Amino acid sequence: MSKRIALVTGGIGGIGSCICRQLAADGFTVVANYIAAEEAKAQAWLAVERAAGRDIHIAAGDVSNFDSCTAMINKIKAEIGIVSVLVNNAGITRDGVFKKMPVENWMNVLNINLNSVFNVTRQIVDDMLAQGWGRVINMSSVTAQKGQFGQTNYAAAKAGMHGFTKSLAQETASKGITVNSISPGYIGTEMVMAIKEEVREQIVSTIPVGRLGKPEEIAKLVSYLASDDAAYITGSNIAINGGLHMF
Ligand code: CAA
Repeated sequence: MSKRIALVTGGIGGIGSCICRQLAADGFTVVANYIAAEEAKAQAWLAVERAAGRDIHIAAGDVSNFDSCTAMINKIKAEIGIVSVLVNNAGITRDGVFKKMPVENWMNVLNINLNSVFNVTRQIVDDMLAQGWGRVINMSSVTAQKGQFGQTNYAAAKAGMHGFTKSLAQETASKGITVNSISPGYIGTEMVMAIKEEVREQIVSTIPVGRLGKPEEIAKLVSYLASDDAAYITGSNIAINGGLHMF
């Protein structure tokens, strides 16, 4: 069997990079999506991955823009092949209390974190249905489950992913496609390190495991959900948060 192709949106970031490396180690041909404004960073990132011998490619595309995603997916199809595993991982935060939130911080977070899931998945699902196998893995957040002071925009977007996941899972289950979400807690990436230190320390003090999570721990879960072994898990949300939120 030829190698399956995995696309990871936001693939050159903190969690995305680890997912790309893990999926490459699992035997996938991996495509890491990035935003064109980060061209130099993406090229440098790719050079490191290639030097390590990984079967990884990069693809520019703005996940908040449907037409940009169409162009990106067409290019991937022409140059690499059909995507079998899609990890909707791209995301941003624009934290702030709701009463002070400017409309652009609401729109940008909804567009990049949630509308992106439509923009990319919509272009890939037909190919998954046609080949009778596919994995869609949506990177949500503990914030979707418990809410978070200063994150009305992010929580709304990440919670929206859960409804999307369960609905698309029902529409595709009989065709060999699984659709699941992962809800990480606080993982030691730039996104979390950008929180003011005293606020971050206060949050970490409430995590029962007593530390931030590691991106590698998220990547291992993605690896499992992407595998043939996970064929019976669909429409699920899997929490990985050090006990921060139990339900
Ligand atoms: N609950 C209740 N009240 C709180 C609070 C909380 N958790 N945090 C702060 N407050 C109160 C403060 O005590 C303060 O009260 P007073 O006005 O009476 O003094 C008021 O709210 C304003 O607080 P700040 O001074 O902190 O307000 P700010 O505007 O400087 O900062 C904020 C607001 C940027 C949202 C800041 O609170 C913050 O960074 N919070 C953390 C947000 C967070 O968890 N982000 C996660 C990013 S990583 C991620 O999202 C990944 C993932 O999936 C988990």
